[in-house]
Amino acid sequence: MTKEGEFIYVADIDELKEKVGKQVFAGDDEVALFKVNGKIYALGNICPHQHASVVFQGFIEESCVVCPAHGWEFDLETGKRKSGNKGLETYEVLLERKKIFVRIKSKKSLW
Ligand code: FES
Repeated sequence: MTKEGEFIYVADIDELKEKVGKQVFAGDDEVALFKVNGKIYALGNICPHQHASVVFQGFIEESCVVCPAHGWEFDLETGKRKSGNKGLETYEVLLERKKIFVRIKSKKSLW
């Protein structure tokens, strides 16, 4: 049982390769982790375009992750698209002794 606002362990930092996403679960949330220039980002893994669990397979272009299915781009910091309102959830990340934790949040729509 997880509580809203709780940090959940999801992976070790050594499991992440630079600019290669990893799918993890934080409570009920499906999360895509990325390490870019040494910084960890945690975004919702389900692309709002076709509700597919593919964001972790996206590729990194500048400050965005690009969905591998149809190329929608999401800002790594904000989860937002350049062109509109639809976006991905973003999660607060805590790194402690090489372990990555993400904070569970309440469900809210970004649409
Ligand atoms: S499913 Fe992500 S852009 Fe289409």
